Amino acid sequence: MKEIVAKKLGAGLSSCLDRIIEIADRKKYPIFLVGGFVRDILLERDNLDIDIVVEGDGISLAKETANILGGKLTIHERFGTAALALPNHKIDITSARSETYEHSGALPKVELSSIKEDLKRRDFTINSMAVRLNGENPYTLLDPFNGEKDLKEKRLEVLHNNSFIDDPTRMLRGIRFEQRFKFNFSENTTKLFGEAIGEDRLNNISPIRFYNEFNLICQEKDPYSPIGRMGEIGFFRYIDKTITYGEETQTIFNQIKWTMPLLENKEEIDMPLLFLTALIAPLPEETILEICQKFSIPENSRTNIIQGKRNEAATIAILSQNDDMESSAIYRLLSPLAKEYLIYITSKVIDERVEENIVLYLSELSEVKIELSGDDLIALGIKEGKAVGDILSLLKDERLNGRIDSREGELAFVKNKLLKIK
Ligand code: CTP
Repeated sequence: MKEIVAKKLGAGLSSCLDRIIEIADRKKYPIFLVGGFVRDILLERDNLDIDIVVEGDGISLAKETANILGGKLTIHERFGTAALALPNHKIDITSARSETYEHSGALPKVELSSIKEDLKRRDFTINSMAVRLNGENPYTLLDPFNGEKDLKEKRLEVLHNNSFIDDPTRMLRGIRFEQRFKFNFSENTTKLFGEAIGEDRLNNISPIRFYNEFNLICQEKDPYSPIGRMGEIGFFRYIDKTITYGEETQTIFNQIKWTMPLLENKEEIDMPLLFLTALIAPLPEETILEICQKFSIPENSRTNIIQGKRNEAATIAILSQNDDMESSAIYRLLSPLAKEYLIYITSKVIDERVEENIVLYLSELSEVKIELSGDDLIALGIKEGKAVGDILSLLKDERLNGRIDSREGELAFVKNKLLKIK
């Protein structure tokens, strides 16, 4: 197991873990790798987030770790948890704890405990395994709920019958794991899931916690299957009671799935915003604003949706009425709108011209850059002020329309303009 963990961590992180073990040894704290990281070791999948549980004071261990390794440390005293953000990784260090829930969906009451108790408070058996890192038998697997067997048999099983009642976010987590790993819920877990749906348990969690899970689903490598499952089960009603998941929404999601691979800079696209747009843009503006308020959607995302909605019809009309629009005109028309909104438009229009022009904008035109800067123009003798902006804008049009494709071309264009001005 030690070799597998070391291989998984790579040389850099492995030595970070060694430092943490040294500190824990000094403090005589037993420490363990837990949760998704252990699951992913056994599944041989990458996972950059390391979860460590300490039988002792996790926060003091995290503080000493941060002193040695650097990184940004965030501490939640109330839950005994600390997160250390390193350049490419996150290390969560928490004190082993047990949890009790005062009512369904409440934040848990936390008490310090042992690793065994800590594993008992978790969601699914596959996430309830640990690897001991120090003490008598280091690098052995602790698997009190047979998570390894469930992993092998591709099964999602909760640890006890109250799991979805205690923490209804587990329903959304369950969908995420079910679709990510292509696992099935066990018979008993399926029954409990069904009961929790019938009892409307997701209503017991705060909108922010719901939205956080929605976000995680949208950020999956393949978000289309879990988002589709959310829709089939009827979970979009927690976004707004008027949202259903019919053929129209399914087609929109399918089209989004088709459009995304055509884009150059896919990582720039805010997937939660894209799916949210697809779900709420058809609703009246007041409802959109209420939803954004309820989920504390950032101001710029709200503006993106509202502005897109206001310009949607006119944008589609212009694109469908003009056969041979120059690329610069397409750029000027579409660049004020958020990319997420444009993808949403492509997913619902039938007119191929509209779709092609938007895809052209998203995949090529939006990436077009000019090489000369305002300072370069001034150095060439153009007077500071409006003229600089005008020429930069002309240069951009020339680039967009393919008449210039190099810095030399840009320089020649500017010199030519200068001659004409003089
Ligand atoms: N956990 C839980 N119930 C929750 C959230 C988390 O039991 N509602 C436990 C699980 O043991 C989980 C661990 O905390 O494995 C870490 O949580 P998180 O980082 O959210 O999930 P991962 O399992 O690591 O999933 P992912 O791969 O999506 O990061």
